[in-house]
Amino acid sequence: MTEITKIQGIGFTKTENYPNAEKIEYTPAPLKPTDVDIKILACGVCGADTHFPRGDFFPPQLPIIPGHEIVGIVINKGSEVNDNDIKIGDRVGIGAQCDSCGNCYRCENNHEVNCKKSILTYGNFHKIDGRQGGYASHIRINHKFAFQIPDNIPTNVAAPLFCGGMTSLSPLLITNVGKGTEVAIVGIGGIGHMSIMFAKALGANVTAISSSNSKKELALKLGATRFISTKDDPDYLTKNEDAFDVIVHTGSFVNTKTVTELISMLRPEGNLQLITGLSTGEEALNLNPFMLCANNSKIGGIYSGSPSKIKFMLKLASEHEVFPMIECLDINQENVTQALVRIEKSDVKFRFVLTGYDKYFG
Ligand SMILES: NC(=O)c1ccc[n+]([C@@H]2O[C@H](COP(=O)([O-])OP(=O)(O)OC[C@H]3O[C@@H](n4cnc5c(N)ncnc54)[C@H](OP(=O)(O)O)[C@@H]3O)[C@@H](O)[C@H]2O)c1
Ligand SMILES: [Zn+2]
Ligand SMILES: [Zn+2]
Repeated sequence: MTEITKIQGIGFTKTENYPNAEKIEYTPAPLKPTDVDIKILACGVCGADTHFPRGDFFPPQLPIIPGHEIVGIVINKGSEVNDNDIKIGDRVGIGAQCDSCGNCYRCENNHEVNCKKSILTYGNFHKIDGRQGGYASHIRINHKFAFQIPDNIPTNVAAPLFCGGMTSLSPLLITNVGKGTEVAIVGIGGIGHMSIMFAKALGANVTAISSSNSKKELALKLGATRFISTKDDPDYLTKNEDAFDVIVHTGSFVNTKTVTELISMLRPEGNLQLITGLSTGEEALNLNPFMLCANNSKIGGIYSGSPSKIKFMLKLASEHEVFPMIECLDINQENVTQALVRIEKSDVKFRFVLTGYDKYFG
């Protein structure tokens, strides 16, 4: 067992330095009996990794090392982690959450992700010493939030499943998507492309809705049967009245206009799910309640997934080969900066994964 004492990473010491990533070293919080130490092999670059360091949600606690789509090997564990849970040498993945209180209503009913004392892998509102993300040599976390990866999912491909994959599946599970459900996925980025694959795996008929035609071919290859470019088809809303049981908006930002338009394409009792917490130019959504009543519409939001859902997601991904489409970049300061800049231009098909950790961190 090798207990880690120092962790090397890449992140930001000041928001104004964004997107120029810097080298950062930190001391992990003391090992708790339920913790494991993980040597990181790969980490996906989630859309949220652009928001947190820049302060889109709230001013970040600095320094900040992003990364919450982590795959690595367990190299050390606390005294209460037994071999039935996790063994030294296991290949595990970690998503956006790394701890919760364990004894509230939510934690005791498989809703740990919504625990009011939940601790994020990185990007917490309050400063938590010794807690940073996966653009780093190692991570120390509660073993309940580290998940064994099915053997048929390669390491680099597995990484994006832990935040993006889970987040793409959750709204489909909440809305009971199954065989024959008409599903529209809006925003074909990291999460959106996995939404297409998971919706198909659940048996749905999937329509991809994107801002241009540039992702059409790939979206159809991933399993969509229809593709709408909002730019090229100005009449798409009227043409698709009553077309969808479920619409999942996976774009980086949302606003009242978008929500109102999307509801107009729902069938009665249809369901619109939002995954971004960021609205453009408005503090809050300003919705007409009559519009909701007249259509028996439901609007909801989701927050990634709790441990039981993450285990189900991994099983589904393994059985249906829901393997994200990735572009690997060796981890170093330049490539982290480049990945964050390119994500904002939607210039990746569809998820960057940082690799080559041994080369950089030794
Ligand atoms: N709820 C959760 O648990 C959770 C978890 C992870 C991430 N998120 C959030 O989910 C969002 C998407 O994450 P991601 O990793 O999929 O990001 P991403 O890879 O950057 O994809 C976002 C997609 O949104 C569309 N888009 C780009 N700019 C936009 C804008 N200004 N307004 C609306 N849509 C825009 C683009 O799709 P097209 O080119 O097809 O139009 C883009 O590919 C982020 O805001 C992230 O913070 C939420
Ligand atoms: Zn994420
Ligand atoms: Zn709790």
